Amino acid sequence: MAISEEPLDGVPRVYPPRTPTPPCGCDSDPIAALRRLFVDVFQSGALSRGRDPATRPVFLRLHGVAHGRLVVRPGLPADLRVGVFGQQPEYSAWIRFSSDVQPGRPDLKGTVGIGVKLFGVAGEKLLPADREAITQDFVFQNHDVFFVDTARDMCEFTCLSLNGKADDYISQHPITGQILDDMEKVVESALGIPYWSVLPSRFGADRFVKYKLEPESPATGPPVPDYADPFYLRADLHARLRQQEARFRLLLQFQTDPDTMPLDRATVRWSERESVPVHVATLILPRQDLDQRGQAAYGENLSFSPWRSLRDHEPVGSIAEARRVVYEASADNRRNVNGVPVAEPATPRPASWPARRSTAGR
Ligand code: HEM
Repeated sequence: MAISEEPLDGVPRVYPPRTPTPPCGCDSDPIAALRRLFVDVFQSGALSRGRDPATRPVFLRLHGVAHGRLVVRPGLPADLRVGVFGQQPEYSAWIRFSSDVQPGRPDLKGTVGIGVKLFGVAGEKLLPADREAITQDFVFQNHDVFFVDTARDMCEFTCLSLNGKADDYISQHPITGQILDDMEKVVESALGIPYWSVLPSRFGADRFVKYKLEPESPATGPPVPDYADPFYLRADLHARLRQQEARFRLLLQFQTDPDTMPLDRATVRWSERESVPVHVATLILPRQDLDQRGQAAYGENLSFSPWRSLRDHEPVGSIAEARRVVYEASADNRRNVNGVPVAEPATPRPASWPARRSTAGR
């Protein structure tokens, strides 16, 4: 039986949440509709079915949470020393590796993502709640284009998908079907593949970039993973980082032609031949034990949003506008349900704890 209640913000909520019928409000306010679909329906729907703890609605398959540091390349030319690339020589960082697969599905062929949180970044941030935060986030996935162009397209796709009619959308938008197929890659190791921000951001006052992370060297070490293990990416990531450090180059791809590199058509690839990404910093993950006490829980409770950012790196485009609203609502919802603070950390979690003293013989 549905239970309705009147929360403080005056919007009646119904549990379990009902999936709205198409067009789900996408024609009038796609951003509000996306918030409702992702947070009120999808995320809260899982909660009403008993999911505990509350999770992200997407990219909820955790592979591991690592500490590291981002080292800006010394001697960058002045025109690249913008925002975080012109402030500190290096930043401590916490990194969350995940896949966009729902519980019960294997890692294999899921989209892999990385959230990177830098600490010690001075200056006002764009999210009003985190204006004073010392953090700057970057979010990447292992495919360079998105499967829809705009927030309205994303809303229509999500609305139909939640109503079991994704194929109706795909038959009208074959490019979406093509990109969703291309995204189903077999990934050997989350440390051995490139990642892209997918969507553009400002770079200072009048330039636009996309970000890319690429492994500095191919992942070496443990043998080919056991693809039959539904959680093989976790096993691989933990094993590799227990053995050796990993490094990714952080690159900027500048928009050099507004026609071939649009800001609000996310299915359009920015050609890396037309604009070659430029190496500006290196993300270093030292050798570590990802099973260390509390480390995974720490990363799960963090929120990564491209809007937790200096204005110099402001995200652009209608999908970015939607993410500003949806990520904050999702992170607040899950953290409130789990009883953990919604605020940004004021200091990075220390990379390691003193070993427990033996009590033998006491
Ligand atoms: C309108 C489009 C999008 C919507 C509605 C959306 C929605 C969300 C939501 C609700 C979360 C969880 C936030 C939280 O609870 O902390 C999330 C996380 C994530 N999204 Fe998106 N997303 C969109 C586009 C994208 C794009 C273009 C990328 C490509 C990089 C992306 C990659 C990720 C990744 C990697 C995470 C996990 C970050 C973490 O580790 O916390 N998303 N997304």
